[in-house]
Amino acid sequence: MTGVPSSVAADLAALAWQVEAGADEAIGEVPVNRFDAAEQPARPARAVAVAGRPKSGPKSAPEAAPGTAAAPPGGEGGATAAEADARMIAAGCADLAALRAAIEAFDGCPLKVASKSTVFADGNPAARVMIVGEAPGRDEDMAGLPFVGRSGRLLDRMFETIGLSRRAEAAEEAVYITNVLPWRPPENRDPAGAESAMMMPFLFRHIELKAPKVIVVMGNPAARTVLGTTTGITRLRGQWGDWHGVPVLPMLHPAYLLRNGIAKREAWADLLTLRVWLDENGG
Ligand code: URA
Repeated sequence: MTGVPSSVAADLAALAWQVEAGADEAIGEVPVNRFDAAEQPARPARAVAVAGRPKSGPKSAPEAAPGTAAAPPGGEGGATAAEADARMIAAGCADLAALRAAIEAFDGCPLKVASKSTVFADGNPAARVMIVGEAPGRDEDMAGLPFVGRSGRLLDRMFETIGLSRRAEAAEEAVYITNVLPWRPPENRDPAGAESAMMMPFLFRHIELKAPKVIVVMGNPAARTVLGTTTGITRLRGQWGDWHGVPVLPMLHPAYLLRNGIAKREAWADLLTLRVWLDENGG
């Protein structure tokens, strides 16, 4: 750039690079000097609420041996009394009926008080595919079943396009559906970390007892809980993870797809990934 001082030229080049990288919008009222911020001591990492794993890294299950339904970080000391209760109760459930009854009787989670139903699961327990969503909404609370509202109808249509249904009798054509939380959070807010942590032993025992061949986690709360990662779902989706040897496919949540129609092509790609896996692993 002739006639422009070199420091200004360098600043302009840096700016052009940022614009090309997509950082073309101011998101704060006042500028932040990141060089200053770098000199401050690093903030301590927030407590990992759901499991004793690093906040990012390989996408595999939180450390917990199947049958023990996930210990919190630091052993007993890291858990609330309700989490410890949940772990003990869940580990003692010998089948899905016992687990459902145990969750219905569990009083440790305040969400239960305001809920009409305990939403346990729907679909065929023999299904090869287990879908894990977030939490019941209003429709699910009324019906006592997961994914029966608008996003549930989309979920059904999505899986039907690859030949899977919650109503199918044949295990190869069926899905089984549950959520991280069995009770509706008020105003359909995201599950709080403490709520997911408390109910995680029940979810993990649910997976153990159901013994799916493959798990689909829909949306951030399900991916975080099952995979123990904080990587966002838009980056995780379509990439296989693992829950104690069971393959886990993260997908965008149908509620997100209802708001972002353009993302349906990514969901379609992920459904095809699942279909291919099923075809290659016994139909
Ligand atoms: N969203 C979910 O994640 N689960 C449901 O059951 C309903 C909506």
